[in-house]
Amino acid sequence: MEKREELYAGKAKSVFKTDDPDYMVLEFRNDTSAFDGKKVEQLDRKGMVNNKFNAFIMQKLADAGIPTHFEKLLSDNECLVKRLDMMPVECVVRNVSAGSLCRRLGVEEGQELNPPTFELFLKDDSLGDPMVNESLVETFGWAQPADLQRSKELTYQVNDVLKKLFDDAGMMLVDYKLEFGLFNGEVLLGDEFSPDGCRLWDKKTRKKMDKDRFRQGLGDVIEAYEEVGARLGIDFDA
Ligand code: TMP
Repeated sequence: MEKREELYAGKAKSVFKTDDPDYMVLEFRNDTSAFDGKKVEQLDRKGMVNNKFNAFIMQKLADAGIPTHFEKLLSDNECLVKRLDMMPVECVVRNVSAGSLCRRLGVEEGQELNPPTFELFLKDDSLGDPMVNESLVETFGWAQPADLQRSKELTYQVNDVLKKLFDDAGMMLVDYKLEFGLFNGEVLLGDEFSPDGCRLWDKKTRKKMDKDRFRQGLGDVIEAYEEVGARLGIDFDA
């Protein structure tokens, strides 16, 4: 597979065409953004860490029968993925209260959420990724209802797999965001799963080990990502 011209540059990843129209190359950059791109910094090693972290998680999800766009790692900062027609919605599941849920509802951080919540956000930085719902998604045609239902089902399946994976490694999966797209009519998990798009706390100390370290200026951002990876058994030097 040959890497061709850049299709699109996101806040943390760039997407390239290949000589096969069904496949793309994702390049994970060191750029780190928060608050809909209002805070941006370069963090050393981040592209490599998130690329390898994502590859590990996507493989675990595929092993559990969850269909994803991930094909293989190509280099420290690149992987090969199927080219999806993305739905512009973000699916968020929360197991523990944090972040925007606490701000919106005045809930204290750290409450266990039972059953876990499911929320939808429109992927639009200029609007601040507003919260939406199934009715709005259908009316505005952001996704077909059946595809949205399938995305929701897969988002919950991911919770079953990853809650246990992180729990076994001494961490709590507080919440996470997933994005889905269509490939030949089938809904596949797209984008990435890394500490940029989820919250992970140490089970005992509740130390934050995800992008909240960057959002809140807590420092040691990539050190924390690497610690999460090490606990999962990921070899970032491989
Ligand atoms: P929130 O608390 O800001 O709504 O975020 C919930 C989870 O989803 C958190 O792990 C961060 C992730 N997320 C993103 O990665 N990107 C986004 O644009 C949004 C809205 C959430």
